[in-house]
Amino acid sequence: METIKALMTRRSIRTWTNEPVTPEERKIILEAAMNAPSAADARPWHFVTLDDPEVIRQFTGMGGTEMLAESTFMVLVCCDVSKEIYPGFWPQDCSCAAQNMQLAAHDIGIGCVWIAVHPLAEREALCRKVLGIPESIVPFALLAMGVPNEVLPPEYRFDEARLHSNKW
Ligand SMILES: Cc1cc2nc3c(=O)[nH]c(=O)nc-3n(C[C@H](O)[C@H](O)[C@H](O)COP(=O)(O)O)c2cc1C
Repeated sequence: METIKALMTRRSIRTWTNEPVTPEERKIILEAAMNAPSAADARPWHFVTLDDPEVIRQFTGMGGTEMLAESTFMVLVCCDVSKEIYPGFWPQDCSCAAQNMQLAAHDIGIGCVWIAVHPLAEREALCRKVLGIPESIVPFALLAMGVPNEVLPPEYRFDEARLHSNKW
């Protein structure tokens, strides 16, 4: 798929079939994640992959996350803040990785939704507890994926009112 087409047609998918995401598809998505830009190329990220339904089920009670029970492949983007070179940029680094994953998934026909974790303290604590994440690592965002069981139309959100030319 052409890049512009992929980013103009991507939507958050929240219902999935029980067909698995193949190892090849997982690799493409994780390669895209780690190819993201990051401040000073620090790459402060780690990724926890989840495909055990019993583990995934433990994230269905966070509020509005019941649908995760259908997800066959989830990735928790985490940050080792000690790897930063310029302090403070890590959420932007991890967001770049997360968005790359969303677009790569869409490109290969995998449906994905970003589930907020950081800066919600309760969700961060749940991730730590369920997955044994050490205190030095920040759980950042959950990307829930699977073979889509819904088709959402593209949305065109371009808004002239948000453009400012040469001055505000
Ligand atoms: C930082 C961030 C946090 C999000 N958190 C959630 C979430 O916790 N639960 C959820 O269902 N969707 C979540 N989303 C998805 C948004 O709701 C979705 O991107 C937005 O409604 C626009 O729809 P679209 O992705 O289909 O274009 C999140 C997206 C972002 C970028």
